[in-house]
Amino acid sequence: MSAFSQNEEDRSENIKYPLVIEDLRKSYPIESGEVQNVVEVESFELNQGSQLAIQGASGTGKSTFLNLIAGIVKPDIGVIRMGEIELSNLSEHARDRARAQLIGYVFQNFHLLQGCTALENVMVSMAINQNATRDRARELISNVGLSKKENFLPSQLSIGQQQRVGIARALANTPKLMLADEPTGNLDSENAKRSIDLLSSLCSSNHCTLLVVSHDEKIINRFEKSMHWQDINRAKGFDFEY
Ligand SMILES: Nc1ncnc2c1ncn2[C@@H]1O[C@H](COP(=O)(O)OP(=O)(O)O)[C@@H](O)[C@H]1O
Ligand SMILES: [Mg+2]
Repeated sequence: MSAFSQNEEDRSENIKYPLVIEDLRKSYPIESGEVQNVVEVESFELNQGSQLAIQGASGTGKSTFLNLIAGIVKPDIGVIRMGEIELSNLSEHARDRARAQLIGYVFQNFHLLQGCTALENVMVSMAINQNATRDRARELISNVGLSKKENFLPSQLSIGQQQRVGIARALANTPKLMLADEPTGNLDSENAKRSIDLLSSLCSSNHCTLLVVSHDEKIINRFEKSMHWQDINRAKGFDFEY
């Protein structure tokens, strides 16, 4: 399929979107003129609705892997498919649309707009979607337990609350796939546990696939299914310590 069209959007409620990756590679040049292989994934699959936590050390390509899936980073080669949509083969515009419609992203550093309230941060990410409504954003804010603080700015929220806004925002467009990159990296252990359980249960109730990467074993252990990144990634990078 060459483009993410309006038709696909209309049908998207009924379609299954397993994530399938084949022979995906990404390298970066390093100072000496050599290249550093960062990601080399021969095959990787995730069924629609499943949840997987991937554990790996820092600097070994986990964020790059998620950014490749999200279309933020372009692969050297490889295929990334969600259902029948080949994300790796879309034009930039179609890829941006597909990403907005299909993929949610929770970041370690939240990436909230500091001048916008909690509610507005969720609404902004719905702007690309025709059915964007304040009501939906309020429902999402309520789902993460922040109704009373919906008009607060990020700077008026605790770190844990900011991450909950990040989770609500990532769910705004009812994604089929949620990517979470060290989502609890900036939280204390109690907030980390709460955030990860909230993310997991909201993904379940939204029939959304969840892929979490973390270096933190305590987070990984909260998931039924987990894998080691070095069993997925064959790249032996410059400074990897496998
Ligand atoms: N845009 C980039 N340009 C050059 N090197 C990069 C870039 N992004 C990541 N890298 C390198 O790729 C490696 C893996 O980084 P990253 O994916 O962030 O690892 P992790 O998320 O596992 O900590 C690191 O050595 C990093 O320096
Ligand atoms: Mg990272």
